[in-house]
Amino acid sequence: MKELIAKYIEEIRAAKIDGIEDKAAAVEQFRVRFLGRKGIMNELFEQFKKAPGEQKKELGIALNQLKTAAQEKVEEFKNFVEQSVELNDTHDLTLPSDFADRGSRHVLSVTMNEIADIFARIGFTIEDGPEIEDDYHVFTALNFAPDHPARDMQDTFFVEKDPNVNKPTDVLLRTHTSGVQVRVMERQKPPIRVIMPGRVFRNEAISARAHCIFHQVEGLYIDKKVSFTDLKQTLLYFAKEMFGPDTQIRLRPSYFPFTEPSAEMDISCNICGGKGCNICKGTGWLEILGCGMVDPNVLEASGIDSKEYSGFAFGMGVERMAMLKYQIRDLRLYFENDLRFLHQFDSLV
Ligand code: DAH
Repeated sequence: MKELIAKYIEEIRAAKIDGIEDKAAAVEQFRVRFLGRKGIMNELFEQFKKAPGEQKKELGIALNQLKTAAQEKVEEFKNFVEQSVELNDTHDLTLPSDFADRGSRHVLSVTMNEIADIFARIGFTIEDGPEIEDDYHVFTALNFAPDHPARDMQDTFFVEKDPNVNKPTDVLLRTHTSGVQVRVMERQKPPIRVIMPGRVFRNEAISARAHCIFHQVEGLYIDKKVSFTDLKQTLLYFAKEMFGPDTQIRLRPSYFPFTEPSAEMDISCNICGGKGCNICKGTGWLEILGCGMVDPNVLEASGIDSKEYSGFAFGMGVERMAMLKYQIRDLRLYFENDLRFLHQFDSLV
């Protein structure tokens, strides 16, 4: 037994884990072999119990030496494993960190906020409505005739179809924000002075000039004795705030089912100052929105007495506003999330 102990001590002194791939596992294996419950140490202690009395002292000392040697070796191995993990860690904690990209607001959000701010300064508040709408709020209550072409499936995305006849039901994605006017009139009494920004959907092929998803800001003002002059002055104020103090406006007669009279508004071209360039196609004018006096049928449909109250409404495309203001040539850029495009607007808040 004495020789055996001496042999193990020798083995322990010579043991190495340098070349071993999984060092942590090798250390554990070593520990279990000598110091585990069924390990060499315990086995030798069992034998020690049966050894003759006169040998016990000498054997006891040798056994303790073996145990200490095994424990010290395990400690040594563990330290070695820890150190080599640290050495393999290639992170240099003294290096300065990368710049964190803080991101910025999307140019469409900036433009929407800008429009909202301009109208907030003259007392307009913001209202919201659902993107999934019904036929009544988007068309019927806005005086669209039953056979009006805007109700056609070619323009409108219907959310549900009648399974029996495969015809659209009246649940649809709103094609304009004008329907929010109806929702506001249903829940508020005049005076009403609101703008209604939001996302709209039309079944259009995607190109530089058209998209199936875009944004509008709708405006509605209803009170006693609201006149076309109020509309014109409000929009002139908006145009100057948005595009600069020298901006001029012109109103051209137009048609919308929900306004009478209706108009389209142009601003003097902010690129060439009205002289004519390729942006305004040589005309000196840029079309920016539709507007008009709210049709009495629309007021009455939402329970507002058209003899007592009158109002004006307008609606504009946010993508178009941003295109004109920031000279963006292609609508698709807004939705592609190309950082080279988005970063150009970092300084806007
Ligand atoms: N809803 C119209 C569109 O999508 C825009 C519009 C025109 C809104 C005239 C109005 C308005 O409120 O009075 O083209």
